[in-house]
Amino acid sequence: SDVKKLLVLPGDGIGPEVMREVAKVVQWMQTHRGLKLDIAEELVGGASLARHGVPIRDEVVALAREADAVLFGSVGDPAWSHVGFDKRPEVAILRLRQDLELFANLRPAIVFDALVDASTLKAEVVRGLDLMIVRETVGGVYFGEPRGIETLADGTKRGVNTEVYTTPEIERVARVAFDLARVRGNRVCSVEKCNVMESGLLWKEVVTDLHKREYADVELSHMLADNCAMQLVRNPRQFDVIVTGNLFGDILSDLASMLTGSLGMLPSATLGGERADGRRHALYEPIHGSAPDIAGKGIANPIAQILSFAMLLRYSFKREDDAAMIEKAVSSVLESGLRTVDIMSDGKAQVSTSVMGDAIVNELAKSAV
Ligand code: NAD
Ligand code: IPM
Ligand code: MN
Repeated sequence: SDVKKLLVLPGDGIGPEVMREVAKVVQWMQTHRGLKLDIAEELVGGASLARHGVPIRDEVVALAREADAVLFGSVGDPAWSHVGFDKRPEVAILRLRQDLELFANLRPAIVFDALVDASTLKAEVVRGLDLMIVRETVGGVYFGEPRGIETLADGTKRGVNTEVYTTPEIERVARVAFDLARVRGNRVCSVEKCNVMESGLLWKEVVTDLHKREYADVELSHMLADNCAMQLVRNPRQFDVIVTGNLFGDILSDLASMLTGSLGMLPSATLGGERADGRRHALYEPIHGSAPDIAGKGIANPIAQILSFAMLLRYSFKREDDAAMIEKAVSSVLESGLRTVDIMSDGKAQVSTSVMGDAIVNELAKSAV
């Protein structure tokens, strides 16, 4: 049927605050664009811990598995920072990624024209930036074994995590990066630390091999992760698609967000493998977290969450026009001068989360007539 199942997981902190603004956009799309959704909403993270004693229930994972797409907010609450790793709010997102095999996290860093002066970098460095970071999300040091904290005989403690990547894990995420590059700028930069890590050396070999076999038409380069961090600040437009492992991708994408003016601007799509029925598991979330420092104040930037919904429409529902319409509305609202507090405002109007959300919906309404 043309009714799509959407699972909404607002989570903690500013998650529910920015998700309320997405709900306005969703509502508008249902009324005016013929979008037909069967929406379920569930608790995850600290909110689920408080109600159910676990960061995510099995039922919720099952719902995510059945859904056509998952829209995720953010999880994390300082109230739970004392508990063991298996009981942290963050388990909710880590488990969804693992259980649904959401291995390729697409994190676009796009500089809106209206925000070239909002970056902490010079306008001429960031103007026109359109970068895609493809971050591996189910492997690497996040999940490698052995892991844990052990106490040695002499009372010394030892914290252990292990970086592990296998050939198929590297190949499948590299494939996503090469496929994306073909419909963008046709360039992939693969990032690792092959100078100190065997997992990095294997990463480089596997990417090089796959490139030779299947993607020789795409321009491939390699870069060490520390240099990449520096190059992103020095001259970010040298990059088209960056493909990298879980931890480097996490760090480099937060860095890249500031090129666009704010962490509150960056959406993401996390795609899983093809399923037997030809569909793809997919989850959409901003790259930012629950922002406990501003939660409850009504000042969070809802744009990353709204743009995540746009990515959902594009990748999971194949509604490119609707996705583009939302992105255009965001761009127009920024042109009009509205800013949330996280964006350098230069004296422009600073508005609340809900005023920003309303302005985006108003802009959608204008573009539709
Ligand atoms: P964070 O991304 O929550 O916040 C970092 C800084 O950016 C804060 O100053 C915050 O106020 C600001 N910020 C983030 N998003 C914003 C927005 N939309 N509008 C305005 N300002 C925004 O990172 P953190 O403070 O390191 O982590 C807080 C919690 O979030 C931790 O528990 C962490 O584990 C979790 N986290 C969750 C996710 C996720 O659910 N995917 C992602 C990142 C962090
Ligand atoms: C992100 C977050 C998560 C990560 C945390 C909350 C587990 O920082 O989505 O970027 O490290 O992957
Ligand atoms: Mn992160």
